Amino acid sequence: MILDVEKIRKLFPIYEENPNIVYLDTAASSLKPTPMIDALNHYYQKLGVNIHRGVYKIAHEATDLYESARTKLAHFINASDDEVIFTKGTTNSLNMVANHYLDILGQSDEIIISELEHHSSFLPWLNVSQKTQAKLNFIELDNNGKITIEAFKRILNQNTKVVVITAVSNVMGNTVPVKEITRLAHEVGAHVVVDAAQAAPHIKLDVRDLDSDYLAFSGHKMLGPTGIGVLYMKSSLAKSFRPVEFGGEMINQVTKDSMTFKESPYKFEAGTPNIAGAIGLAAAIDLLTEIGLDNVTAHVDALYNYTTNKLKNIEGVKIYNQDSDTGIIAFNIDAIHPHDAASIFDKNNVCVRAGHHCAQLILKWLGAESTLRASFYIYNDFSDCDKFIESVIEARDFFRKF
Ligand SMILES: Cc1ncc(COP(=O)(O)O)c(C=O)c1O
Repeated sequence: MILDVEKIRKLFPIYEENPNIVYLDTAASSLKPTPMIDALNHYYQKLGVNIHRGVYKIAHEATDLYESARTKLAHFINASDDEVIFTKGTTNSLNMVANHYLDILGQSDEIIISELEHHSSFLPWLNVSQKTQAKLNFIELDNNGKITIEAFKRILNQNTKVVVITAVSNVMGNTVPVKEITRLAHEVGAHVVVDAAQAAPHIKLDVRDLDSDYLAFSGHKMLGPTGIGVLYMKSSLAKSFRPVEFGGEMINQVTKDSMTFKESPYKFEAGTPNIAGAIGLAAAIDLLTEIGLDNVTAHVDALYNYTTNKLKNIEGVKIYNQDSDTGIIAFNIDAIHPHDAASIFDKNNVCVRAGHHCAQLILKWLGAESTLRASFYIYNDFSDCDKFIESVIEARDFFRKF
């Protein structure tokens, strides 16, 4: 065991309330730690005021905390502060980017995308394609459901204007070669939009090294609060990126027939932002940084390997993904409907996900309507894996009686 799980669990109040919970649904949302909740409480109990516009002490403190959260997030992904836009989350970030291209793309343009995308990465571009007639070009996945550079090169061409790519699929769990894809996309002048919702909680992201144009992630999957996320936008792109939302705090001058915008990131944060959310997310980043993403990866790998080695040998279990780098296992038991199986897990206080995981394209590719999904994180230990395995066997044996 890489991490001291007993010590880590003391940071998560849910284990006090529910000491026997086996939480294996971090890919949907992580559990929430006390330092993050304390940061939210600090804002709501001691400050609770608006930012940027106040001319009194607590408004300054709130503004400082919000802006230093931005700096922390920028540091976390090796961006500059002006490139970090606070949004509601990955879905909001990715829609914002796609909507910008509604005015830019046309019939002769192509968007490269893949069946690995979560709906929040696919649907905004399906909408763009339907409205602009730009063509969606799908990267052919290899036999293991992975994206290869060769397959990407086969469809990349001079008409490619945007490449939309998930860094890690929420069903398959393995890392996609985003850096090489970005390098090749830039050779034809295309912009690359990276969905890092599953990558950010596990893998060190360096937007300079990746040379990313846009990269999105959510706070709630990485120990942060719900309703806050980040859109990284390369500063050279921000100038010509017209805001999608208009309102307070994002303009310089307004007349009856004109408006001028502030610089990024402020022109993209119209209205009162999720101040507490940003402050809470910064506290989550502090904790993750203290634990170390390398340790998170090693810990999750150990749990994943231990579990899959056992799961593979259970007769009747089908595992859909292999070599997950982020502790995700997508599986089914016999022909039992995942929601039926999930009821046995629930009875045993084992929380897993059941359904299509908002990723119907990859499920179809896998030949499944829905699956169960288990995912590991820093608060899981081998006893969680054992309870999970016991529940798999119990579910199989229970439904075989009928
Ligand atoms: C790969 C991926 N992309 C995008 C999202 C959407 O994230 P959110 O619901 O936080 O906007 C998710 C959430 O499950 C995800 O797993």
